[in-house]
Amino acid sequence: MDTQAYSTWLEIDLDAIRSNVRAISRRTHAMVMAVIKANGYGHGALQIARAAIEAGADWCGVARIEEALLLREQGISSEIMVLGYTPPALIPEAIRQGIHVAIYDPQMAKAYLEAAQKAPGRLKAHVKVETGMGRLGMVPEKAAEFLAEYHDHAKLEIDGIFTHFARADEPDVNTTQEQLARFTALLEGLRQRGLLPKTVHTSNSAAIINFPQTYFDMVRPGIALYGLTPSPESPLPSEFRPALTWKARLTSLRLLPPGHGVSYGHQYKTQGEERIGVIPVGYGDGYRRVPGQQALVRGQRVDVVGRVCMDQCMLQLDSVPEARVGDEVVLLGVQGSHRLSAEDLAACWGTINYEVVCGLADRLPRIFLNA
Ligand SMILES: Cc1ncc(COP(=O)(O)O)c(C=O)c1O
Repeated sequence: MDTQAYSTWLEIDLDAIRSNVRAISRRTHAMVMAVIKANGYGHGALQIARAAIEAGADWCGVARIEEALLLREQGISSEIMVLGYTPPALIPEAIRQGIHVAIYDPQMAKAYLEAAQKAPGRLKAHVKVETGMGRLGMVPEKAAEFLAEYHDHAKLEIDGIFTHFARADEPDVNTTQEQLARFTALLEGLRQRGLLPKTVHTSNSAAIINFPQTYFDMVRPGIALYGLTPSPESPLPSEFRPALTWKARLTSLRLLPPGHGVSYGHQYKTQGEERIGVIPVGYGDGYRRVPGQQALVRGQRVDVVGRVCMDQCMLQLDSVPEARVGDEVVLLGVQGSHRLSAEDLAACWGTINYEVVCGLADRLPRIFLNA
C-alpha cells in the first residue's frame, strides 16, 4: 500500500468488517442487515457493503433513499432498506430498484401508493412500530389496523415489521423489556390473524450484545459492524475489532523558543524551548477544535497543543526527540503498544464514538485494506 501521496488518510481494514459480520451471525443465527448509513458510519458505504455481503450479510440498511440508490448504481444487488423517510416522489424509483422503504404513518402510505401507480410492480415496505423510541412509527394498534387494511394490496408488498430500541445499551433493562413486550404482543396478534409480515427485526448492536430475545428473523447492526462499542456500558465481546485507523504525516517540526505562542489566539505558549510538530489535520477533516486531544508519534502518546485550525494542528513533541518530518502519526487506531480509540476521542469531545466516525470528512482519502 503506497500512502506517500497522502498527507492524512483513513485505513479501513475490510477483514475486520468481515470478521465482525461473522461474529454477529454466529451470535444471533439471524439474517444480518448491515447498517451502512452516513457513508458506512464514515468508513465508506460501498466497500463496507461489499465486505459485509461477502461475509454473509443479506441486507444493507441506509437512512435515506439517496444512499440506497447510490449503492444500487454502484452495483450492490443485495436487499436494501431505507430505515427513515422516503419522499413520495422517489417511490417509483424505489420500486424500479427493488428498494424496501419504511412505512411509519398510514397517511404516508396513501401518498406512497398514489406515487406507486407511476411504476410497474409493487412497493416493498416494512411497517415501523413505535414501541418507546419516540421517533418514527405507528403505535401497535395502528400498525395492526394498517396491516389488516393493506396486507393484500396490489401495489404494496409488506415484507417486514420492525421497531427500534431507545436504551438497549444501558444497564437498566426495563425500557427494552417494555418495548419488546409491546412489540411481541403485536406480533402475536398479527400471527393469529395471519397478518404477520415475513421479516421481523428489532436489534441494533446494543441489543445484539445484551438481549438475545430480540433477534427474531434479522438483526440490524451498525456500530458493532465497525468494531466500535455501542456505549461504555455495553462493551463489545473480544472477537470484535475496530476497522478504522486515521493517519497523518508530520509535515513540519521546529524548536520554538520559550514563551512562543502556538496557533490562533496563542492559547498555548511554550514554557521553555519546545519541539512543536505540525500535522495536516483540522476541523475541516472532522477533528475537533477542543483541548485535550492526543496523537501517537513513534509509538508514544503526545498532546495536540494550541487551537486546532481548519486543516492543521500542532503536536508537542518534546517526549519524542527521534520524531522526523514525514513520520506517520496516528489520530485514531494503534501505533506500537498504544491505542487511541474512537471512544477515547468521543470522551474528549463530550460525545459518542458514532459522532466521531460519522464526522470524518469526505475529503479524507479512504484506503481499503484486504479489499
Ligand atoms: C433503525 C435503526 N436500526 C439500526 C441501527 C443501527 O444502530 P447501531 O449502530 O447502534 O447498531 C440504527 C442506527 O441508528 C437505526 O436507526
